[in-house]
Amino acid sequence: MKEKPDDRPLREIRLRTKWAGNRLEYHDSLDSTNNRARLLAEEGAPEGTLVLAESQTAGKGRRGRNWVSPPGKNLYFTLLLRPAFAPDQASMLTLVMALAVQGAIEEACGCRAMIKWPNDIVLNGRKITGILTEMDARDGRINSVVIGVGVNVKAQEFTGELADRAASLETELKQNVSRALLLEKILERFEKDYALFLETLDLSLLRERYNDCLINRNREVEVLEPSGAYMGVAEGITADGRLLVRVADGGCREVYAGEVSVRGVYGYV
Ligand code: BTN
Repeated sequence: MKEKPDDRPLREIRLRTKWAGNRLEYHDSLDSTNNRARLLAEEGAPEGTLVLAESQTAGKGRRGRNWVSPPGKNLYFTLLLRPAFAPDQASMLTLVMALAVQGAIEEACGCRAMIKWPNDIVLNGRKITGILTEMDARDGRINSVVIGVGVNVKAQEFTGELADRAASLETELKQNVSRALLLEKILERFEKDYALFLETLDLSLLRERYNDCLINRNREVEVLEPSGAYMGVAEGITADGRLLVRVADGGCREVYAGEVSVRGVYGYV
């Protein structure tokens, strides 16, 4: 007999996590789940607080872009952390979350999505997920980190700057995808991977898995840095999340900031 599709509404998620989502705020609409989580952090909300919205009126993307967030179709959520480590280690958390989302998509949908360094999730060459991490640090200590995740699950139309490079899980897979199931899997995986991160305070224990699903690996990339652009072949990430790029003279550069894109016929990647 054919299995009934999991069409639980988002507010019916059943979390089997130890701490992620221990306090859950569900909203029909918010300006941005990151903004709400930051406000809750200011008010003393605990680690693990999860803000979830059906839609966002001012969803934020990286580099000041907006994140188009129509109602009832996708996932928009933010997880609040209160880490005890140094502020300059926080940027690695975005990669930890990317790995959790990639694994959850594989588990929930049975397909192999890939990661475009550092943290976009890509399927069939199109962007499915974006992650925006924001930190509040004072006097050299982290007060809070919020990790905001937007997953295009059911959307059929895309507007805005990413229109020609974005897609959703359902447009690509032509199958029903449960937002509730996907979110449950993401949080379960993040919790486990975050525990591995905390063991070493870097990505040593996650690096191999990350590199296995790195779409840039062994491909030509163009690194756009403030000081200029150069070409090379991406080899994988370092334990602290930098991208290793082999350049023409045979040397290897470690890319920390800046934008990496693959030149050529692959479009977005
Ligand atoms: C990117 O530009 O790739 C990052 C997009 C991040 C979007 C998510 S949606 C949930 C959370 N709230 C926001 O305002 N942004 C993030």
